[in-house]
Amino acid sequence: MARVKTGVLISGRGSNLQALIDATRATDHPAEIVLVISNVPGAAGLTRASEAGIPTTIVDHRDYGSPGARAAFEAVLTAAFEEAAVELVCLAGFMRVLTGAFVARWRDRLINIHPSLLPSFPGLDTHERALAEGVKLHGCTVHFVREAVDHGPIIGQAEVPVLPQDDAESLAARVLGAEHRLYPACLRLVAEGRARVVGEGVEIEGAAGDEPVLISPSL
Ligand code: GRF
Repeated sequence: MARVKTGVLISGRGSNLQALIDATRATDHPAEIVLVISNVPGAAGLTRASEAGIPTTIVDHRDYGSPGARAAFEAVLTAAFEEAAVELVCLAGFMRVLTGAFVARWRDRLINIHPSLLPSFPGLDTHERALAEGVKLHGCTVHFVREAVDHGPIIGQAEVPVLPQDDAESLAARVLGAEHRLYPACLRLVAEGRARVVGEGVEIEGAAGDEPVLISPSL
């Protein structure tokens, strides 16, 4: 089985990268991580990749001055991915906004994980904002990337309850656990060609929901 050559873009800790590494280590996973790029030198995720024997590159966005800074930076990212024959790109805590040109180059082959149930709480500080709004369910989303930040056809979502004693830290930890399960599962669906963009949404071939209703608090 030819595995889908996958690149990952990171900026920091890399715990989602680790989840993807762990899942794709199994040779029956349809994706194979062939290159990890960080825009931040010294990002902890780079060590995770190296320890797994995955090639890494640093492309520091600060090396690309204006004008045309973002385009020049992204051209280097795309060239590195092309050099590694990458077919699919995962954003995993990558903290740079991408231009429309990059998004178009990788259209429907560029996926992101976001720590909220989109379209609620795009942007930063999602856990603080979820607590401030008093929502009872929170979670994470994996989606195909479009030019608008944290927007695009949704591949999968995972929910977690918001508990009365939660603060942003405890809620973030619960969501992160869900992220680590959701992202490899969604990568699998995309790599298998089972996640098809139709209009603004994604049709999943053979999808089955096993819980008819999710309720929090449980009654
Ligand atoms: C995760 O919460 C992810 O959803 C968001 O940034 C965070 C990255 O964490 N986009 P890590 O680097 O994967 O540990």
